[in-house]
Amino acid sequence: MDVALEQITREIVKSHQGFLAQSRLLRVLTSSHQLLLKNRRISHGFQYTVPSPKSYPYQWLWDSVFHAIVLSHWEVEAAKKELLSLISKQLDNGLIPHMIYWEKGEAVNINWGRKDTSTITQPPMLAYASWQIYQKSKDLNFLTQTYPALTKYYLYLLTQRDPRGNHLIGIINPDESGEDDSPRFDIPLRLPPQHTPEKNFQRRLKLVDKNRSLCQFDAPFCMKNFFWVKDVPFNAIMVENLRSLSLIATLLGYKADAAYFAQQALLIKDAMRELMLEDGLLWSTYGQYYKKIKIFTWAIFAPLFAKIYTAFEAKELIQKYFYDKDKFYLPFIVPTVARDEPSFNPAGFWRGPVWMAVNWFIFKGLLNYGFQKEALELLLSSCKLIEQSGFREQYNPLTGEGGGAREFTWGTLVVDMLLSSTDLR
Ligand code: GLC
Repeated sequence: MDVALEQITREIVKSHQGFLAQSRLLRVLTSSHQLLLKNRRISHGFQYTVPSPKSYPYQWLWDSVFHAIVLSHWEVEAAKKELLSLISKQLDNGLIPHMIYWEKGEAVNINWGRKDTSTITQPPMLAYASWQIYQKSKDLNFLTQTYPALTKYYLYLLTQRDPRGNHLIGIINPDESGEDDSPRFDIPLRLPPQHTPEKNFQRRLKLVDKNRSLCQFDAPFCMKNFFWVKDVPFNAIMVENLRSLSLIATLLGYKADAAYFAQQALLIKDAMRELMLEDGLLWSTYGQYYKKIKIFTWAIFAPLFAKIYTAFEAKELIQKYFYDKDKFYLPFIVPTVARDEPSFNPAGFWRGPVWMAVNWFIFKGLLNYGFQKEALELLLSSCKLIEQSGFREQYNPLTGEGGGAREFTWGTLVVDMLLSSTDLR
C-alpha cells in the first residue's frame, strides 16, 4: 500500500473517537483501501473502480458513487475521478447509464443497443456524492465542472420518467433499482414468489430487448407499457439527491435552480406520502394506477434516508419491524427481504441476503431520526460480516456466510459508516 496513504489511514484512526478498538478499525480501513486500490482501473484517460474483478469487471453507476463516498475520506481526487468518468458517458437525452464497458470482456454480455454503455440507469446518487466530495475538498471548480451534467441528468428523471407530472419517478427495468431480482418486481414481471434466477433474467432481458428494438429508448410513452414501477428506494434517493443538488446550485449562485430542485424534492416527498403510504409504511407501486406492491423488503426502511416518515411513523417502524425476528431482526442485519415472505431465500440474489449498500442507506436513515442504538448495532453487524467473511457481494443473514462475487467493493462502505459516526457509543 502507498506509504502516504497508509499515513493518512493511521492519522484517521488516531483522531477517530469512535467505539471500535483502534487495531480493529485500522484493519477495516486498511483492507478496504487495499481493495479499492486493487480494483482501480484506468482506461481511455479515465479512472474508475470495478466492483469485482472477476464478476463485475466494468464501471457501474451506483457502485462508483459508493466508491467515491468512501474514497472521499482518503483520496478526494480519486473520488472526483470516479464521478467524472461516469459523467463522460452521459447520453444525449441526459440519462447516465448504469454500466460503462471501458474495456471489452465476456461478463455481463447484453445487447443494450449501444456499444460501450447500457441504456438504463440506476438510483440517482450522483448529487449526494458530489456534495460529499465538496465537503471534503471545498473544491468549487469540481462542482462547476459537474453541475451541467448533474442538472441534465436530474431533469431527465424529472421529465422523461414522470411524463404526467405526478411527481413520482418511474423505472423501466428492475435493474434500474440496483436490486435486480428483488421480489418487489415479481408481480410487475408476472413471476411467482419462487422461481429460478434464469427465469428472472429472461424476463428482464425481454425488457432490454423491448427498450432497444420496439421502444427505441422511449421510456415515458413506450416502455411504461411493459414495466413502470415507482420504487420506494429510488424515489427516496431522488428526494435526498435533489436536496444535495439544490445546495450545490445555491453555492454556485444559481438561485432559481436551487429553488426549483428544492421544490421538486418536496413534491416527490408529498407524492410518495400520498400515493405510497398505507398503514404507516411506504410501498412501491406499479402501473398507471399506482397499485401497491405489498412485499416486505428493506424498502420499508429506505424512506428514513430522505426523512420521508414522520418521527412517529419512524418510531413505529423501528419498534414493529426492525426488531421483528420473523421479518428483519435476524442474526445478521438487515436482510433485504423479510424472513416470513414466501420469496425469502437467505442465499438468493436480492431475495434475502444482507447487501452492504442497503445497510449503508439504513444506517444513514437511522441516524437521521436519532436511532443511535440501532445504528450502532447495524454497524457492528456489518463490521462483523466483513471480518468473518471478507468482502463479498452478499451475506447470508442467518449464518453470516458470504456469497456471490468476491473482492466486492460495497463492504468498504463501512468506512464511511465508521467515520461519520463518531458520536455513536
Ligand atoms: C448487480 C447488482 C447491482 C450492481 C452490479 C455491480 O447487478 O444488482 O446493483 O450495481 O451488480 O455491482
